[in-house]
Amino acid sequence: MNKEEYVSLIDGRDEETARYLFSLARKRREEYYGSKVFIRGLIEFTNYCKNDCYYCGIRKSNRNASRYRLSDEDIISCCEEGYSLGFRTFVLQGGEDPYFTDERMCRIVSEIKKSYGDCAVTLSIGERSRESYQKLFDAGADRFLLRHETADFCHYSMLHPENLSAENRQLCLKNLKDIGYQVGTGFMVGSPFQTTENLADDMLFLSSLKPSMVGIGPFIPHKDTPFADKHSGTLELTLFMLGLIRLALPYALIPSTTALGTISPIGRELGLKAGANVVMPNLSPPSVRKKYMLYDNKICTGEESAQCLECLKKRVENAGCQIVVDRGDVYKP
Ligand code: SAM
Ligand code: FES
Repeated sequence: MNKEEYVSLIDGRDEETARYLFSLARKRREEYYGSKVFIRGLIEFTNYCKNDCYYCGIRKSNRNASRYRLSDEDIISCCEEGYSLGFRTFVLQGGEDPYFTDERMCRIVSEIKKSYGDCAVTLSIGERSRESYQKLFDAGADRFLLRHETADFCHYSMLHPENLSAENRQLCLKNLKDIGYQVGTGFMVGSPFQTTENLADDMLFLSSLKPSMVGIGPFIPHKDTPFADKHSGTLELTLFMLGLIRLALPYALIPSTTALGTISPIGRELGLKAGANVVMPNLSPPSVRKKYMLYDNKICTGEESAQCLECLKKRVENAGCQIVVDRGDVYKP
């Protein structure tokens, strides 16, 4: 599809088109993955960040954020608990925290791979040099999540301070792919100043990058950011975009995100019904969860990991799918 076709499809959407889109999306997902839903254990290991993204609750200028870092031992014990619960992918996510040098990160990755050789390690630690990405890959990291946030350079500059550019973010994605990572990207739906043309460009960007994973979620304001007074993205548009992504990239691993669950009590179930096939329960120690507050009212910040998983299992079953114990690598024909 070209840009104009995406724009008219998105702008002209109604309930009936959405229902039809979701049925096609589910069919495509089933062709590739059956009714399987993969789980990723999310470990939010630092909320220090040197960046100042206007939308993000852990941006460096937020003096109200109470900062924390997990130790190597804390991270390993999250993996230990996760492994016993059936997780075979660990996602290490954090702000861009210079304390976690290449040496430190490589040590953590190789320690996890040594103890849990049948598991995949996914990193989500922002923009780094190509050399740094290479070292982390050589240490054993399998996958990398880096949302492009918005493909449009001008829109990108409305969401970020001047020192951050869409150009560099997209170069990072290219480097990650060249190195051999399974790459994930994505964007926020309903972010401030976003137009339908921007969403169409995001779709074209995805079609040309062909990432293994695509994470999208509604933008949700955080009270201590410059975007505190902006509106959230809607459930309805986020689900529609999710369905379109499944059709454009039928083989992709697409999470039904926490942000979807935050704007609606059944957001994650609806995400699965619109074509998603991954959920990412929180494995971070409950003591730090409220501190990784990217946006207001984030869910799952009080539970133990086992509780989170039990709750998600029920939600996945309500959506007609099953959680499996599996690394959940991207489909290879
Ligand atoms: N620092 C890493 C990076 O830049 O990729 C990973 C952490 S960052 C907090 C993870 C993602 O959270 C971002 O890519 C962004 O899309 C999402 N996010 C941040 N603030 C948000 C908000 N207010 N609403 C919804 N999503 C948000
Ligand atoms: Fe760095 Fe959000 S500003 S993680």
